[in-house]
Amino acid sequence: MVFPEYRPRRLRQNQTFRSLIRETRLNPESFIYPLFVIPGKKRREEIPSMPGIPRLSVDLLAAEAKECLALGVNSVILFGLPEKKDGVGSGAHAKNGIIQTAIRELKNRLPELLVITDVCLCEYTDHGHCGCIIDERVDNDATLEILAKTALSHAQAGADMVAPSDMMDGRVAEIRTALDENSFESVPIMSYAVKYASAFYGPFREAADCAPSFGDRAGYQMDPANSREALREATLDVDEGADILMVKPALAYLDIIARLRDEFDLPVAAYQVSGEYAMIKAAAERGWIDGERVMAESLLAIRRAGADIIVTYFAKEMARLLRGRG
Ligand code: PBG
Repeated sequence: MVFPEYRPRRLRQNQTFRSLIRETRLNPESFIYPLFVIPGKKRREEIPSMPGIPRLSVDLLAAEAKECLALGVNSVILFGLPEKKDGVGSGAHAKNGIIQTAIRELKNRLPELLVITDVCLCEYTDHGHCGCIIDERVDNDATLEILAKTALSHAQAGADMVAPSDMMDGRVAEIRTALDENSFESVPIMSYAVKYASAFYGPFREAADCAPSFGDRAGYQMDPANSREALREATLDVDEGADILMVKPALAYLDIIARLRDEFDLPVAAYQVSGEYAMIKAAAERGWIDGERVMAESLLAIRRAGADIIVTYFAKEMARLLRGRG
């Protein structure tokens, strides 16, 4: 047998060669760590389906964020659980609402931290939908105004970037206009441009107490069967002024991440969602997989597919692992 001239194994013979030719690398600076904020003081609650991820009262946030910064994770995204909910999600844009208070606290204590906010109504509505309900349907256009007010209230509290996750049509333009009219031209919008109606959000809905009380989100979130529609959604958001495009969930939608990377020149973010995290944690707990390696492999796959930025509950754990490898 005559071997060909080129033998790929030459460059795999030891760790030094392997790291020399690595095409894809993970770095903590490109992770965004989600923080769940709850009312009260000195409250730290574990989320049963998301081991290791806490829900924290505002006074405990800075310590958690400081840990992130020490690990090189410079960005967090905030989700709030308000004291009270109502039909139109007024808590989402209250001046002293849970998120507005959390932003002020974090930016006061840790000015170097990049504070991103999720802009959506589902945590603030008593019916759990992402918009307001008129005639038993989520009313797109009535919701836009509330979303813009919410995003503006986050910017006024000091948020560095807003991330609308509601999937109402036209919300990026509405938010951009509201920000610009109030001198927040420099606050970017990271749009959840492509968000699928996914069962992988299960644990999050428990964590953020935002499961819809009737129906589902398929009327506004995308059908997992569609990929061309993802390009249409993303094109609209780009035209409306989005600065970063996000795909969510991540692992089951790597093809979508790759397509967006090819088609657009904006930074692409991917959200490795609660269900993805929970599956890895649960299987690892049972000893069925090596949790650390599966974590690293799945994050690497998301990056390899083309994500510049990864929102992940593993941010701290992965950063620690990367640091250990130094
Ligand atoms: C709010 C929102 C959701 C998630 C992020 N923002 C829930 C949903 O759309 O049902 C899910 C994140 C996760 O599962 O980790 N609309």
